[in-house]
Order: sequence, then C-alpha cells, then structure tokens
Amino acid sequence: MCGIVAYIGNKPALPILIKGLRRLEYRGYDSAGVALMCDRKIERLRSVGKIENLEEKTKDSCLSGNIGIAHTRWATHGGVTEENAHPHFSTSGKLVIVHNGIIENYRELREKLKEKFEFKSETDTEVLVNLIESHYDGDLRLAVEKALLHVRGTYGLVAMHSDEPDKLVAARLGSPLVVGIDEDEFYIASDATPMLAYTKKVIFLEDGEVVEISNGKMETFNLKDESVTKCVEEIEWDDEQAEKQGYDHFMLKEIYDQPTVFEDAIRGRINMGDGTAHLGGLNMTDDEMRGIERIILIACGTASYAAMIGKYAFERLAGIPTEVDVASEFRYRDPIVNDKTLVFAISQSGETADTLAAVREAKRKGAFVRGVVNVVGSTIARETDGGSYIHAGPELAVASTKAYTNMVAIMTLYALQFGRLKRITPATGQRLIKALLEIPEKMNSILKQTDEIKKIAEKYKDSRDFMYLGRGINFPVALEGSLKLKEISYIHAEAYPAGEMKHGPIALLSPEFPVFALMTKNQLYEKTRSNIEEVRARDTKVILIANEGDENAKELADDVIYIPPTMELLEPLLNTIPLQIFAYHMAVLLEKDVDRPRNLAKSVTVE
Ligand code: M6R
Repeated sequence: MCGIVAYIGNKPALPILIKGLRRLEYRGYDSAGVALMCDRKIERLRSVGKIENLEEKTKDSCLSGNIGIAHTRWATHGGVTEENAHPHFSTSGKLVIVHNGIIENYRELREKLKEKFEFKSETDTEVLVNLIESHYDGDLRLAVEKALLHVRGTYGLVAMHSDEPDKLVAARLGSPLVVGIDEDEFYIASDATPMLAYTKKVIFLEDGEVVEISNGKMETFNLKDESVTKCVEEIEWDDEQAEKQGYDHFMLKEIYDQPTVFEDAIRGRINMGDGTAHLGGLNMTDDEMRGIERIILIACGTASYAAMIGKYAFERLAGIPTEVDVASEFRYRDPIVNDKTLVFAISQSGETADTLAAVREAKRKGAFVRGVVNVVGSTIARETDGGSYIHAGPELAVASTKAYTNMVAIMTLYALQFGRLKRITPATGQRLIKALLEIPEKMNSILKQTDEIKKIAEKYKDSRDFMYLGRGINFPVALEGSLKLKEISYIHAEAYPAGEMKHGPIALLSPEFPVFALMTKNQLYEKTRSNIEEVRARDTKVILIANEGDENAKELADDVIYIPPTMELLEPLLNTIPLQIFAYHMAVLLEKDVDRPRNLAKSVTVE
C-alpha cells in the first residue's frame, strides 16, 4: 500500500503534492511526508497521521521548488513514527526516495551496508535509499538500476539527488506507478487520480521499468539500461468525478453514485433482441466458451462477496460449476486448474497483491484468466488476458460500495453471455435484461429512504454486536453488510446463513445482540421467515429488509426497511444498499472516520 506522488515542471510543487496525497490517502494514512528540491538542496517535512497534519506543518515552513516527491504511508516495516515516515534520505543527505512495497531481503542488505551507512529508521526503504547511494557515481538512473538488481521484493519508487537537481527517477516492480504528461510537466503517482486535474495523458510503468524525467523530457529503460518505448494512453475519468460533490463523505457519495455507475456498467453490453450480453473483453471463441467445465472466481474482501453472488449467476444461468476462492488461500492449496477452467480475478483496485498472485498462479497452470476490474490500466487489468472494466469511476472511500455493485452487474452479464450460449432461451435472457434495466430506478427509490435508515441507526448505535442473516443469494449480502459495519464503525458483526443459526450461533443472541436479516420474496422466503421466527423467540431485536407490501415483516421485526422486488438473481444489487447506508450512519453517529477507517487501506498491495 502507501501512496506516492511526484511532480517536475514549472509550477510550485508543494500544492500539487499535497493535493495529490489527499487523493491517495485511501492507500494508507499512518504518516505522510514531502521533499522538495530547492536550489540544489533537498528540504523535507514529515508528520505522523493524516495528510492534514502534514499540510498544517507546511504552513509554517518556507518549502518551495518546482520538483518534489511525497508519500502517504501504511506501515509495514517499523512503527508509526516520524522517523519511519517517508521520504527517506540516504546517509549523505543528498539522495531522497519515496517507496511503496516491501524489500524482502532488507535485513541482509542492511547488514552489508551498515559499515558505511547510518540508519535512523526501522524501514526497509532506508536500506533501499542507501543501497542506491552505494551505487551512485554521478548518474541517478544508473544507480537506481544497479541497486535494484540486488533487491528482492516489490517497489514503486521515486528518487531525486541534489547533485542532479533537474531530475526525477522512478522505478516499478509489483507496486503501481503512473506517469502523467502535460507537455514539459510530469506527474508520477501510484494511480492516476492525483494528476486528473492537470492531464489525462499517461503512461503505465511495467514491472522492471525505470523512467528518468529531466529538463522537460522523459525516457524509459529496463533494468539492463536498454531503452523501452511506451504508449501514451488517455484516462477517461475526470477530476470532478474524484471529488465529494457536496456529500459529507466519499462513501456516501459513492453509495449515491450507484444508479448512475450501474447504467455505465451495462451500457452497450446488452442486446435485448437476442436476450444476451456481450462483453468484448472476454476474448474467447464460442468453442472455447462451450469447452469451459469450471469457473473459479478469485477475489478478496468485498470483491469476494460479489464473487459469491457471481457463483449463483454462473451456476443458474450457464450451468457451469463455479467456485469462489479467497485469493490469499487460492495459490497455497495447489488448486486444480487446467485449460478447461476459466478464472475471473475480481478487484476494484486491480492491485490487490493476493489477487494478483492468484492470477499468476492460475495463468501458470494454463487456465483462461480474465479480470473484472475497476481501475483502468491497473496491474490485474494488464496481466489478465482480457476481461472487463466495471466502470464504477474512482472509488476513494476505503469501504467499497459502488465497485461491489458493478462487479455483481458484470458477473451477471458474463453469466448471461455463457448462459445464452449453453442453455437459456432468448426469452429468459430478455426477462433478465428487462429486470436489469429497472435496477437504477429501484436503487433510487431505496436511496430516498436514507433518512429513515438513519433513524434506525440512531436506535441501535449503542449496540456492540450485530448478527447479519440471509439465505441463498442473500447470504453474501449479509456478509457484505457485516463487513461494512465492522470496517467503518468498529462494531463486532457476524454473518451467517440464516439456516445455520440453530447449529450454534443462536446461543449468542440476547436483547443486546440485534439481528439484521434479509427476507425478500425469493424461493427461500418461507424458510428464512421460519429462521427469523426462531431468532425472534429469543427476545432479540430484529431489523428486516423485506419487499414492499410484505405485511408479515412488521410482525417479525422491530424495524423494517421496505425495498422494491426484483428477480432473485438481481436482489443483491438492491438488498445491499440499505446495509451500506445503515453502516454509514452508524459510523457517522459514532463519530468514526468513515472514509479512512483505522488500520485499513484501500489498496492492499502486500500479501
Ligand atoms: O481492490 P480490491 O477490490 O481487490 O480490494 C479487495 C478488498 O481489499 C476490499 O474489497 C476491502 O475488503 C474493502 N475495504 C471492503 O470495503
């Protein structure tokens, strides 16, 4: 994790760097720092905590310059202290770097370097900067290239040296770096959001590449110092999309974005006439598709709950046995994967290290590997042999909301595409498409209930435990609701399939342990209802998500959130929204930092 921003051009660098760090704060916010080149001297400021602490410090400083690097940290090696905050100087004080990633062999490198270099922090980054210095002979790029040949691990790094005051050098292995180009000005960052206000033209650095920017020119090399030609790409997202647009938090804005971005996800990908979907990025012939015997969906966290919903879609519509694997488990269980297996890697950031490792393992074993990813040009998007962007736009709150919805949408479309090829009729496909087209309006009607859901949150804000229940396709929804609550309000929340309660967890229930249950009118409605009655008999408080017009719900629950009905396969697209809103208001009422919850980062680029 960690976020990197750098700038080289004609403008004052500091405001660009601070604004850029704010955009990347989702990648970690344990500490932040900035270093600027000022008249052949490098000045640095660092601060523990969020970017606002660093910004406050810069107000009393006379930091200036048109070239600089900055960093927001999610601690891996070394505690959360100012000494461990980036940028890190080499012992001479002439070389400075920011780094995202982990240097796995830093202990042995430190042992070798410790006679000549002094270490002030506990970080692997300070070892890296001194390693670069040990290779420095008047050419920063060459020193970086030589040093990196000795490194095991991952890095995205940017370096500057006071003997070469018009130069930035950046390198990537495993941690993303994007370079934004605006004529003779350049931006470097962990993703494109810090540069959207200035340019849409970018290049994505690949693993093993090094870029040197100096005097308005950029050149790219590999670690053997051979020149590499890069393509300039155009980013579609604009700066405004990355702003809060009047909402108190990014999370609330992103919850409200859902009807619009859902439309973006399905636009141009459905064909009502044929009752099918077409996702061009699948890159498979009809014969290859027919030959698929197994689908594996790999993902982490919220994306894995979206994957669990995808499993229902693939099995019901296409009749293809589908498994969901948490990415961090996948490659360590020696998965049975072959050329009749289709693996989808599902990820908002496209940078999740566990998911990326699983992608590589599945590719190595010969599977078809495709990505379902939000961030354009991200590593998973580039390392898979096809797939689809989910078009959710920038998601900046750590708690994922709109990306989840669009992952579900895209997997439903893939399932429809396979289903139409293998077994379902055009009429069945058309019914599904009709229901999909009704989803945005139904989402809007749920969003209109935000105030009522807030009132429910007010009633429960002192509860310290929650049980989320759902059956069938609503079980992953329960998991997602409980994850949202725990990650932003720090309330203990469990999720179970409602039918499992009687096998143990029901013992937990008491009037202080409320239940949040999903009881929409699908094939498991009656069964779920009986399970809620069992819960109710234990004097537990119950909040229910039920379909409009379901009078039984009122008898079973203390609070009911009524939502419009839809086809069972599409229920998660609606049923999850009240759970997101509830978790949001609980966190606000408890005065938690909704967008930047403790101990978390948006993009988890360590295994
Ligand atoms: O970027 P990814 O979708 O790969 O991230 C996966 C998880 O880290 C992510 O969904 C995480 O669980 C979120 N904080 C959930 O809100």
